[in-house]
Amino acid sequence: MLLHLSTWAEIEQFLERSRSIVVPIGSNEQHGPTGLLGTDWLCPEIIAHEAEKSADILIAPTFNIGMAQHHLAFPGTISLRPSTFIAAIGDWIRSLAGHGFEKILFLNGHGGNVASIDAAFSEVYAEASFAKRRSGFALKLCNWWDLPGVTELAREQFPTGHGAHATPSEIAVTQWALPHARKSAEYSPQIAPSGPIREALEFRGRFPDGRVGSDPNQATPEKGEALVRLAAKSLVQELDAFTRESVPA
Ligand code: NI
Repeated sequence: MLLHLSTWAEIEQFLERSRSIVVPIGSNEQHGPTGLLGTDWLCPEIIAHEAEKSADILIAPTFNIGMAQHHLAFPGTISLRPSTFIAAIGDWIRSLAGHGFEKILFLNGHGGNVASIDAAFSEVYAEASFAKRRSGFALKLCNWWDLPGVTELAREQFPTGHGAHATPSEIAVTQWALPHARKSAEYSPQIAPSGPIREALEFRGRFPDGRVGSDPNQATPEKGEALVRLAAKSLVQELDAFTRESVPA
């Protein structure tokens, strides 16, 4: 079930049978010469929407702008400051918790978001109104590539040139879902350089075409399909385990 395609009455009914929700979260940032700017929010959205087709789970709208300051030297990148990002995540959580959601799983598509999502969770947990909630209220961060089995499959599919940014696995996921993503280029070098990721101008100097350590030409829609199917299945299992989590009174 997709929240944005539901009515309030349908959400009220859903809350009678489940108190869990998945929020896809990512970033809108350059992904090399052929990767879509939306790659990091499209991947968790594609996986969550696929999971929802075969399970009675609820998916929130995608939180699609994240921590991308290091990509701002490339046109099209949109970034939030950490303080804005943390505040906005907190407001999404407060809204959902106010309706009665108790298990909120953020399915993340961007490594640069992790520290700030964790900080947002800490801000919420620190509030008296949340600190006093009966045990059962919980927030969970799950990177889509960390869902059980996914990293292993990506390693099998791309033993070399996977890299850290504009990776063939994330590009493959978008290629499966969207014809727009089926682009290729002659890369030079074939596998991009690796190195530390800092601020925007240094990033563009160090990684001139935007890729980090990757060879996106290895991506195919078929490999993307295998990744999405596995990740969607694992997401349903992770959400189920999270929903069943209980703390002894
Ligand atoms: Ni990415």
